Amino acid sequence: MLVIESPQQLREAIKQFKQQGKAICFTPTMGNLHQGHLELVKQGQKVAPISVVSIFVNPMQFNNADDLKNYPKTLDADCQALEAQGVDIVFTPSSDVIYPNGLAVQTYVEVPVLSDCLEGELRPGHFRGMSTIVNKLFNLVQPDYACFGEKDFQQLAIVKQMVIDMAMPIEIIPVATVRETSGLAMSSRNNKLSEGDKRKAPLLAKVMNQLAIDTQNNTTQHSLLIRDACHVLEAGGFDTDAIHIVDVLTLQAVTPETKQAVVLMAAFLGSTRLIDNKVVSICTNKDFTL
Ligand code: PAF
Repeated sequence: MLVIESPQQLREAIKQFKQQGKAICFTPTMGNLHQGHLELVKQGQKVAPISVVSIFVNPMQFNNADDLKNYPKTLDADCQALEAQGVDIVFTPSSDVIYPNGLAVQTYVEVPVLSDCLEGELRPGHFRGMSTIVNKLFNLVQPDYACFGEKDFQQLAIVKQMVIDMAMPIEIIPVATVRETSGLAMSSRNNKLSEGDKRKAPLLAKVMNQLAIDTQNNTTQHSLLIRDACHVLEAGGFDTDAIHIVDVLTLQAVTPETKQAVVLMAAFLGSTRLIDNKVVSICTNKDFTL
């Protein structure tokens, strides 16, 4: 496995694989890898013989300087896990290499509408930073495929739209969320939970699954379903941040035309914000109420 820091060396290595006619699958990460990241890599390896992973904690997508500073860095362990997984190249650029002139003058890529709602409303500039770095990494790696987790549902929707809008010759591969046996979605953030909070955490997925069933049955108004879900979470020790039921394609409110909706959950356990989501087919031909 090659561990490469410089874009020039990366381009050289990629050029050689391309000359051999080998397809490339790319998985961008910010490191601190867990089973969920490795699953992205594995799914990529099913579609392309060459696997490239980037590890770059992207300052442009952080709203909070402390979050950026405290972001866990586990490069040695990450590289070991990626090598064991048969990855061909790990790209680990520094911030100076990616943003040589600083963030203030960096050209950016922004997917409108999809970036402005939901998480985008809570974290202004986050998705602009994310789509800018993904665009730049795509230009450097020039992959045929790229894997993104369904756990970050809005991120995946934005990347898919960016690839379409910018006519990028890249197929985006959505990868299902990897869960603990308890149902808890895997996340680097789970490591921050206290032992007590770890026991409480699986409730988020349980409440989400029930909410998804209720949404599917469309038995009552979505706002009432969300209110009940908040109560259950709060009784279980969570502080609910946001629960939304939106159209999967537009990420806007469900309409009579909506065929699939996504239940999006965000709730705090202590200071750790956990997210999860579930897609449901909905039947809006009954009494349609929100
Ligand atoms: O999902 C992440 O880890 C990041 O948003 C990504 C896609 C690596 C871009 O920095």
